[in-house]
Amino acid sequence: MRVGVFDSGIGGLTVVKSLLENKLFEEIIYYGDTARVPYGIKDKSTIIRYAIEAVEFFKDFNLDLIIVACNTVSAHALSEMREVSSCPVIGVVEAGILATSNALSDKNSNILILGTKATINSKAYEVGLNAEGFKNLQAKATGLFVPLVEEGIYSGDILEATFRHYFDALKKPDAVILGCTHFPLITDALEGYFNKDTIFIHSGDAIVQQLEKDFNFKEKFSSTKLEFFASENPESLKSIAKEWLNL
Ligand code: DGL
Repeated sequence: MRVGVFDSGIGGLTVVKSLLENKLFEEIIYYGDTARVPYGIKDKSTIIRYAIEAVEFFKDFNLDLIIVACNTVSAHALSEMREVSSCPVIGVVEAGILATSNALSDKNSNILILGTKATINSKAYEVGLNAEGFKNLQAKATGLFVPLVEEGIYSGDILEATFRHYFDALKKPDAVILGCTHFPLITDALEGYFNKDTIFIHSGDAIVQQLEKDFNFKEKFSSTKLEFFASENPESLKSIAKEWLNL
């Protein structure tokens, strides 16, 4: 299978990492809209327009599947992408809800949803989790993490200060949904802030669970052909990919 992975920037690389670890695909084509990141502060109609342009970008690649490795796009534009795409399109929000349900047997667990402003405002996670019986939810837009990650800041004082700013007033959760694909890059720092036994839901692991549920994968690929594209400065995206994916 040849799969396209789309994100507003570098965050979707965290999803690619999970796909590679699970050896699911023969070929992955990554597209990051680095010229227009962040999407999380934009309004729904703009996010839909950019998402449809991403489907157009993938048109000539003859893909079997598009994975939307961006929570913001998944929350706002999945159905619009499906309307214009000739192959199936799956997104990380649906997958994240499935993974949360799989991880938590106690429906009273306190779940903290983190994401961009657009993802949190969409309430997509709350609606999905409520339908699964989870009612004890907190949601927090933590958009400042996106430019920090894009800037290569994965630890240190600036990040710690943003944690205090965003989280100090919240109830300590049992589980944290990393509802933005940029956030796994700062998981180590987040684990240091929250309780040791806090469960983290990662969009990459979640999409693997969704794929294994929906598709009947028979083969594991020992190597995967990877191609990286970006709407601006593809060299920078490629060098982050090299570092993050150990290429
Ligand atoms: N990686 C995107 C997500 O999962 C967010 C980054 C952005 O604001 O563009 O929501």
